[in-house]
Amino acid sequence: MTLRAILTGTGSALPRTRVSNAELADRVDTSDEWIVERTGIRFRHIAEPDETTATLGAAAAKEALAAAGLEAADIGLIIVATATPDNTFPASATKVQALIGAPDCIAFDVAAVCSGFLYAVSVADSMLRTGAARHALVIGSETFSRILDWEDRTTCVLFGDGAGAVVLSAKHVDDDQGILATRLHAEGKYGDMLYVDGGPSTTGTVGHVRMQGREVFRHAVTNLASVLGEVMTEIGLSPDQIDWIVPHQANKRIIDATAKKLGLPAERVVLTVDQHANTSAASVPLALDLAMRDGRIKRGDLVVLEAMGGGFTWGAAVLRV
Ligand code: ACO
Repeated sequence: MTLRAILTGTGSALPRTRVSNAELADRVDTSDEWIVERTGIRFRHIAEPDETTATLGAAAAKEALAAAGLEAADIGLIIVATATPDNTFPASATKVQALIGAPDCIAFDVAAVCSGFLYAVSVADSMLRTGAARHALVIGSETFSRILDWEDRTTCVLFGDGAGAVVLSAKHVDDDQGILATRLHAEGKYGDMLYVDGGPSTTGTVGHVRMQGREVFRHAVTNLASVLGEVMTEIGLSPDQIDWIVPHQANKRIIDATAKKLGLPAERVVLTVDQHANTSAASVPLALDLAMRDGRIKRGDLVVLEAMGGGFTWGAAVLRV
């Protein structure tokens, strides 16, 4: 028997307001055609003032708990991956803890931008397997709309708000169920290719997203294909044995190019970027929840998660659900 972190539930939450490309084109110099052709994005959800990273994260967490058949009191670890916390501190994880009514447990945030959820899953996996908790809530939640420069058409059309959550439970298994491998990377020398031009310790402001799109695109395809290869090699399987890949939903062209590099057909790729745009740390758990709920991903499937984001940071995880 092996002690593993098993996926026992998923959930998600989206802000009430959905904005189409055409609606965006009323306020920014852009067009539906340009956005669809370059990114595959058609809609994004934008948070209203009463919707925050913590409230969206808590809503997703409640769904994931219900799917796992657990109560908030069962949770021993809460990790929120976010680059857009409600406050500089306390951590959004502690806010989620209070909102869902979870008693004293371990709760903290992880900051790795779009790959934050992969980082959080990897940390939770390690903590569950060393006995720090029996059940963990791992949440990716973002309100990127709050840090977008709505005058900058090269970035503001790309992002959306939302949250996704999973429950991971430590369990002794005698098969290959659960998280089988995770791999994380960071290369800080590329920090100025995708960053926010503000922060508490520099400008004292929140700042706005700045990006060199072409460079990000180039690095994303190379790094994602490479890290996917690493996790598959680690478990001794080849990419053609993957049932589903749930990629970070930044851009359909990045997703297509990465899948092509690995020889994976489009039918095995979960795609939500058209409906959600890039929700940063929320994008992978949001897409995972959608594909679990609509029955595409079934128990027993081999699923690979991957993401890349500012830093640069990137990572992948492979699990048998
Ligand atoms: N609407 C209309 N025109 C636009 C827009 C817009 N929203 N944005 C830029 N343009 C124009 C530019 O001004 C430029 O015009 P010009 O030729 O007259 O100068 C033209 O479109 C082409 O601009 P490029 O930046 O060269 O366009 P490109 O084909 O590189 O596409 C994009 C830009 C979509 C940002 C692409 O580079 C990309 O997807 N990069 C990856 C970025 C990404 O996904 N970041 C998310 C965070 S990182 C991550 O999650 C992996």
